[in-house]
Amino acid sequence: MTTTLDPVTRTQAYFDGGWHTAPRTFEVFHPGNGKSIGAVADCTADDARRAIDAAEVALREWRRVTGYDRGQVLRRWHDLMLEHKEPLARLMTLEMGKPITETRGEVHYAASFIEWCAEEASRIGGERIPTRLGNKRAFSSAEPVGIVYAVTPWNFPAGMITRKAAPALAAGCVMILKPAEQSPMTALYLAELWLEAGGPANTFQVLPTNDAPAFSAPFMDDPRVRKLTFTGSTAVGRLLYGQAARTMKRVSLELGGHAPFLVFEDADLERAVREVVSSKFRNAGQTCICTNRVYVQRSVAEEFTRLLAERTGSLTLGDPLLDSTRIGPVVEQAGLDKIQAQVKDALDRGAKALVGGQATGGLFFEPTVLTDVAPDSLILREETFGPVAPVVIFDTEEEALRLANDSEYGLAAYAFTNDLSRAWRVAEALEYGIVGINDGGPSNAAPNVPFGGMKNSGVGREGGHWGLEEYLEIKLISMGV
Ligand code: SIN
Repeated sequence: MTTTLDPVTRTQAYFDGGWHTAPRTFEVFHPGNGKSIGAVADCTADDARRAIDAAEVALREWRRVTGYDRGQVLRRWHDLMLEHKEPLARLMTLEMGKPITETRGEVHYAASFIEWCAEEASRIGGERIPTRLGNKRAFSSAEPVGIVYAVTPWNFPAGMITRKAAPALAAGCVMILKPAEQSPMTALYLAELWLEAGGPANTFQVLPTNDAPAFSAPFMDDPRVRKLTFTGSTAVGRLLYGQAARTMKRVSLELGGHAPFLVFEDADLERAVREVVSSKFRNAGQTCICTNRVYVQRSVAEEFTRLLAERTGSLTLGDPLLDSTRIGPVVEQAGLDKIQAQVKDALDRGAKALVGGQATGGLFFEPTVLTDVAPDSLILREETFGPVAPVVIFDTEEEALRLANDSEYGLAAYAFTNDLSRAWRVAEALEYGIVGINDGGPSNAAPNVPFGGMKNSGVGREGGHWGLEEYLEIKLISMGV
């Protein structure tokens, strides 16, 4: 049964036991047409302090609820999300422009993290450790870290929240969430569903703001906030990491990426093209793990590039609310400016656009394939977050690996080959937290795969037991007998 919830609460913040309007609001715009879809509460540092006080009280109770019972609430949250799939998907598309067929998929993706954690909650405990001394008994006890401050991005308005909130709440932590200012309503909708599912007051508080630095300051300074979890840019992640050190918070950081996609001459080319298109153009190229640069071996470069251009040229760019649309707008003008600057830079250095290459009005940019891209082009170094695939030719496996690893980032990498030995060699040599071998979408394999990066791509892992452990303190209890 689908419940009817008051849509007005999607513009109010949820904290300190209730829904609050704020003296100030900020507008959320639909990237598809630039129109406002609502004015949302703009929370302040004072609101943040109230939320922390309320979280402290909520934590005392929630950490005592059994894992089994916490799991039941999470299970109902999961079910409610699926019951609300269509309005949630539509809201996400309105907020940040991802095509509706993808946001429907995101509802399932986001709910899958909750489902896995709902099942796992009852298994959180500890273990008895055999001792060396006969007069001692030793146990490890897994306990919630405490109050968690979460900062989430707009590119997966539901998925990047539940990937954090589900393990935190399953572990017995309470969370205060600052959603991205481009997609706060989805976050508020999730808070409504959490309460509807029986989530106790103040266990999951959601406070939108348009002034992230001022709003975040109380969390970073308050020793009661024991953990920071952040998904976003490397620059902001680095700043928050430094601030979190002052009160020795636990941190999980999922930051930028610059994924290489290697196509060897022994690869199944049709498959490689299918997967690179899905990796590159999902969400108009606005994912941290999406392909940013394509490296193809010389003997198959012509054939591969022809197939890639053909398939890319057939992608429908348009209204993200239509089922037929494959690529929607990018989220905002700054994102479009960056894409245009990178494409212009590549063309100025001699690249050719086989398909696309132009903005088409509003926040739309054509799906693009570039060839003859000079090695010093910006697009081969900086995250693009747009629907542009630069193709570069290599000769040897050694060269491909050198090019692939020559990056400050280490989030995701892809390699296509039908040579089993090469597949292992390459998988082991790539300095990335996520490697897809003949797979352009490794994160959707299961909700419990580890997700996270090396180098400037972050700290820690989300997903599965690794993601859950990020919200648990392990205590040694040793008893003399
Ligand atoms: C991201 O890279 O932004 C998240 C992508 C995913 O979960 O697949």
